[in-house]
Amino acid sequence: MKDKYVLLTGGTGGLGLGVTPVVLAQGALVTVPYRKAKEIGRIKDAISPTTQDRLQFTPADLQDEQAVQQLVDNMPRVDVLIHLVGGFAIGKTHEYPFADWQRDFGLNLNTTFLLCKHSLRRMLENGYGRIVTVGSRGAVEPGGQLAAYSASKAGVVALTKAIADETKGTNITANVVLPSIIDTPTNRGALGAENAHNWVKPESLAQVICFLASEAAQDVRGAAVPVYGSA
Ligand SMILES: NC(=O)c1ccc[n+]([C@@H]2O[C@H](COP(=O)([O-])OP(=O)(O)OC[C@H]3O[C@@H](n4cnc5c(N)ncnc54)[C@H](OP(=O)(O)O)[C@@H]3O)[C@@H](O)[C@H]2O)c1
Repeated sequence: MKDKYVLLTGGTGGLGLGVTPVVLAQGALVTVPYRKAKEIGRIKDAISPTTQDRLQFTPADLQDEQAVQQLVDNMPRVDVLIHLVGGFAIGKTHEYPFADWQRDFGLNLNTTFLLCKHSLRRMLENGYGRIVTVGSRGAVEPGGQLAAYSASKAGVVALTKAIADETKGTNITANVVLPSIIDTPTNRGALGAENAHNWVKPESLAQVICFLASEAAQDVRGAAVPVYGSA
């Protein structure tokens, strides 16, 4: 990804803290949109000082189409979109508030649509692009009390595959990774650390994402790649 312009969403999150340093280490020029300024400090601590000048932060709410359009149009090019934004929620379907269902779709699926739509517009102008989205194991193996999460992530998989089909015959690809449990501080806090050795490390998932985002992955289209570790 040397000298590629990479739009990396969710770069300040648990997975993002593992992915951002790996993308930077490959020589990319990285834009990370953020909502909470205090999260930026965590990333700065995680990356090598020699790569800091290739990383820039832009405030943006990625559920707002105008903000996404502006973010994308302010970049010289969008060679790569790595869209990590998303979130987990749990609850029985018969008790699940409709507002929470809409929130989950907004966070997981609508952001993916908006980022893909506008990045793809720029990629088509330039004739080059790599899109990597994040689904979940739940998208293909939905579990009880995970209807909204699983359905919205299944939407991410379907959207990504549809884009991969639309971009056949170009040097633009779209693929989705399906993580199981990622070894983040949030998960250790919520689930306990006893089984963390079976979970996927953010740095490990970063390697899979970076391959799909690389020039070398030009013939991989519409793959939904399970990254389950030993869980
Ligand atoms: N953690 C897991 O075990 C796991 C398993 C399977 C799949 N996944 C998926 O992996 C991805 C990353 O997960 P994670 O654990 O890193 O999540 P996380 O720690 O909650 O990080 C989410 C990131 O998204 C950003 N974000 C959320 N809404 C946004 C908005 N409207 N505009 C701009 N930024 C927004 C957050 O920024 P702010 O802090 O500013 O809100 C944060 O940087 C998600 O898609 C998740 O569903 C995670």
